[in-house]
Amino acid sequence: MITFQKAGSKDVRKIRNLLYQSWTRTYANIFSPEEIKSISSNWHSIELLAKQINDPSISFLIAKDKDKIIGMCNGSMSKDGSTLNIERLHVINDYQGKGIGSKLTSKIIGMFSKAVKVELEVEKNNQSAIGFYQKLGFKKVGNTSFEESGIKIPCFVMQKEL
Ligand SMILES: CC(C)(COP(=O)(O)OP(=O)(O)OC[C@H]1O[C@@H](n2cnc3c(N)ncnc32)[C@H](O)[C@@H]1OP(=O)(O)O)[C@@H](O)C(=O)NCCC(=O)NCCS
Repeated sequence: MITFQKAGSKDVRKIRNLLYQSWTRTYANIFSPEEIKSISSNWHSIELLAKQINDPSISFLIAKDKDKIIGMCNGSMSKDGSTLNIERLHVINDYQGKGIGSKLTSKIIGMFSKAVKVELEVEKNNQSAIGFYQKLGFKKVGNTSFEESGIKIPCFVMQKEL
């Protein structure tokens, strides 16, 4: 049975490994292995993840199959209190297509009852995730980009009204 719960400090290493593996697979045709390593070592460092998990303004959810962490999602409210920003959503490969990504999304939305919309950024070549978000009712509303260790990450901004 798949269960959903808030992440705790003890989960940090497993979450870091899940994120690195998911990035390696998801972005294999988009970024080089060196670029993925470089981005992941900064964005998914033990220190940063531990800080985010213990930050009361961030909701950090994990999905588990018994003791195994098989998915994660984290998000927080915008400063003006209107928008839930989903910052990460990952389900490990063997468990994709079983409704876990949509459950993580609906559960995190349920934790922000005052949000009137939900927003996220998705890498422009990540067609599979874009298709998933469109299926959930998200629409492309703009473009943005991040830069990490000199690597440019072009993204679509996607939004869904709640
Ligand atoms: C994107 C991701 C989170 C989706 O999670 P998932 O558990 O595989 O998705 P679900 O099984 O909940 O799918 C929900 C619905 O979206 C649909 N869907 C999934 N991928 C799709 C795609 N590429 N195109 C169209 N629809 C898609 C499913 O068919 C399902 O529809 P249904 O309810 O009618 O059957 C997961 O595939 C993943 O972790 N990918 C790698 C990491 C990633 O890209 N994360 C997003 C970064 S922004």
